[in-house]
Amino acid sequence: MTTILNIQNLSKKIKGRELLKNVTLIIDKPGVYGIIGRNGSGKSLLFKTIAGLFVPSGGTVKVFDDIIGKGNFPKSFGALLDTPGFLSHYSGFRNLKILASIQNQIDDEAIENVLKLVGLDSNDKGPVRKYSLGMRQRLGIAQAIMENPKLLLLDEPMNGLDESGVSDMREMILNFKRQGITILLASHNPEDISLLCDEVYKMDGGKLELNFINI
Ligand SMILES: Nc1ncnc2c1ncn2[C@@H]1O[C@H](COP(=O)(O)OP(=O)(O)OP(=O)(O)O)[C@@H](O)[C@H]1O
Ligand SMILES: [Mg+2]
Repeated sequence: MTTILNIQNLSKKIKGRELLKNVTLIIDKPGVYGIIGRNGSGKSLLFKTIAGLFVPSGGTVKVFDDIIGKGNFPKSFGALLDTPGFLSHYSGFRNLKILASIQNQIDDEAIENVLKLVGLDSNDKGPVRKYSLGMRQRLGIAQAIMENPKLLLLDEPMNGLDESGVSDMREMILNFKRQGITILLASHNPEDISLLCDEVYKMDGGKLELNFINI
């Protein structure tokens, strides 16, 4: 069976600082996997390394059958990282269309549907610079899921969301899980972690360890 995510002895050094230390994480069963840990402990850096945005200093990251890094990016994969970057003078729809043109897997209708799914108006011609933080976050989720990933990384997806946004986001995450999508969720909110996650890992000074299993 193909492993969804296989991280072996991953380390990352930047300017002499060892920011990820011997991280090993094997995920072979779909579900929601939480990552908790203090500010600066390395959660976002781990996500960016899985996404192929940082090359490991040591060890390996494998997503499905591909070794990630050195220009090799994961497939069947979507991510909401800490700063979703969009072209601020274009609409949400236009931004997604530009991103979708890279892979050319989905059409305009699929983009409209994903915008509706995250609670944005697909006919809204207003530029992203006029979006609130929560609207940007929703657009970030739309971007992450639009190509039907099997592995989804969500780095603090509730950031900037109001109460109804948080409950929508929880519902969406549970729906993705029902569809068999594997989610890595970094969060500081204990309620989100206990409600959503099957297993929870803790990052501490660049080291990752299993914290608890939700049964
Ligand atoms: N591009 C980079 N260059 C140098 N250092 C970095 C870089 N990115 C992250 N770091 C450092 O790596 C460490 C871990 O940062 P990271 O953003 O992964 O923390 P985090 O666990 O996501 O924290 P938070 O809970 O605040 O989001 C920090 O000490 C940070 O300064
Ligand atoms: Mg972070």
